[in-house]
Amino acid sequence: MCGIFGYVGSRINAGQMVIDGIKHLEYRGYDSWGVACKKDNEISVAKEIGKISGVNGEDFAFHSSQAIAHTRWATHGGVTELNAHPHLNEEGTIAVVHNGIIENYTELRDELKKKGHIFLSETDSEIIPHLIEEELTNTQDFASAVRRACQRFEGRYALLAMDSTSQTLVAARTGSPLIVGVSPQDGYFIASDIPAFMDYTRTVQYLDDGEMVVTDGKSILFTDIETGEERPKREIEITWTIEQAQKGDFEHYMLKEIMEQKDSIARAVNQDEDQILTLANAIRNARGTFLVGCGTAGKACMASEYFFSVIADHHVNFAPASEFKLYHHFLQPESLLIVVSQSGETADVLEAMKVAKSKGAKVLAIVNVEGSTIEREADYSLLINAGPERAVASTKALTGQLAVLMLIAYAMADKLKDGKTLLLETAAMINDMLNPRYIQRIQDIAELIKEKEDLYIIGKSWNYPMALESAIKIQEVSYIHAEGFAGGELKHGPIALIEEGTPCIALVGNDEVTTDILSNTIELKARGAHTIGVAPERSEAFDEWLKVPDAGTAQALVNIIPIQILSYFLAVKRGKNPDMPRNLAKSVTVK
Ligand code: G6P
Repeated sequence: MCGIFGYVGSRINAGQMVIDGIKHLEYRGYDSWGVACKKDNEISVAKEIGKISGVNGEDFAFHSSQAIAHTRWATHGGVTELNAHPHLNEEGTIAVVHNGIIENYTELRDELKKKGHIFLSETDSEIIPHLIEEELTNTQDFASAVRRACQRFEGRYALLAMDSTSQTLVAARTGSPLIVGVSPQDGYFIASDIPAFMDYTRTVQYLDDGEMVVTDGKSILFTDIETGEERPKREIEITWTIEQAQKGDFEHYMLKEIMEQKDSIARAVNQDEDQILTLANAIRNARGTFLVGCGTAGKACMASEYFFSVIADHHVNFAPASEFKLYHHFLQPESLLIVVSQSGETADVLEAMKVAKSKGAKVLAIVNVEGSTIEREADYSLLINAGPERAVASTKALTGQLAVLMLIAYAMADKLKDGKTLLLETAAMINDMLNPRYIQRIQDIAELIKEKEDLYIIGKSWNYPMALESAIKIQEVSYIHAEGFAGGELKHGPIALIEEGTPCIALVGNDEVTTDILSNTIELKARGAHTIGVAPERSEAFDEWLKVPDAGTAQALVNIIPIQILSYFLAVKRGKNPDMPRNLAKSVTVK
């Protein structure tokens, strides 16, 4: 996590530009921010605790054509101004912004301390400018010094470095994303994600792992960090627009993205049919299919266990990506790993891919961000086409992931057309559902329960992973203690938590488990719970009823939507900013 952004070129307001640009990367972290601008062979630095969105870019409008900026999600060292990036060497001649973790930093710092370097922060990142400075005693060339320093780092990182004398911006990556924006008239932009520079260019080049780039604003060179060999790069045009990545008339990205599900589900469903059939075949022919993801994407994987079982009569295995390493005993060259990720950059997912590949297994990626590391490193990939998702709490990506996984399950059952029709009908029902009256009804329920400190959600079948997802949504934005359970598990422990008035949400469909989940809801009500049913039909089990359309096997997509809206209003009514939940970041590029 952490967002980094740098520029070198012909524009003379580099400081203002990187400050304005990095505001678009705040979803990657927002503990503190900092900027370093080169001006007349001197580097001037500003850094502060807090969110960069409140900072006025015009304050940095002085003459400068080279700058780097950072927005932080703390890993090593607390949230202090000293720990904020950029970090510099003692003389202030080398500035670095960094995302990731240098795992061997203690050893490197001890070595540098012995050579007289003095460190001011508690971060691993501060060793980088010091090591570059040390390497400059072996080479005159700044870029070569950065290369030599990078060759000594262990861990996953992306960094930008500049010095006070050369007009050189150097970037390197191993594990964390970095993308170059190319503009013939303006120069080169290098950032953790594309929105940082989209006001200037839509032409990009991706750095791969183990690569570095050196640019003076006029030309650029991609090389392998270890060997120095040149790496040829293609220029790629981005197809989505900056408007799609902005809030528009909405107060928060989260609500905007929830509402976008009116269209995004249909975009996910309209996949190339031959590709879906090929993937269905790959699953059919695999000896063991595993699905992994983290957070919300993991809940989509878990739901797909039910999709593949009920729709395709086929067994697949889900594991949270961070646990998958321990499954390596089950992997063989004929195994298939399906990874699901919105960002396409999640470190634990990349790690799972590495494990599968080391056993010769093939990897299929279902991702949202085109050109992301996971998409590029997988053997096959499918895009869910949700458009940029900026709110930390994932919403439209989830329904896109669920739709694509269901489509593949239908294709395996030789019913691709039926699956597509059902999902497009579901998308149309969701469009109708997202009307102002419905949203007001959910707001009213949020008003009713906003002061509660505990909340439970139950579901069965695919509504069980959706109950877990509901809990994540409520926890992350409203900070209410929320937990999801399989309805049948209540009587084995969780029911002891129910007190008079405890809000309990039941996710219900119209299927073979409806009677069971309604009985579970009645069991809760009998213990004093205030029950809220999300269901196609009214039931005496519910104190409150949030009507949802009957979507059959696609019910998971429909049932999660009122909960996303409820989470949003719970956050807002409790005075929290749903787009920037404490301690969280959207893209988790550290293990
Ligand atoms: C973070 C985000 C979640 C997301 C998870 C997986 O925890 O806050 O919203 O579900 O990472 O991210 P991915 O990009 O791999 O889907």
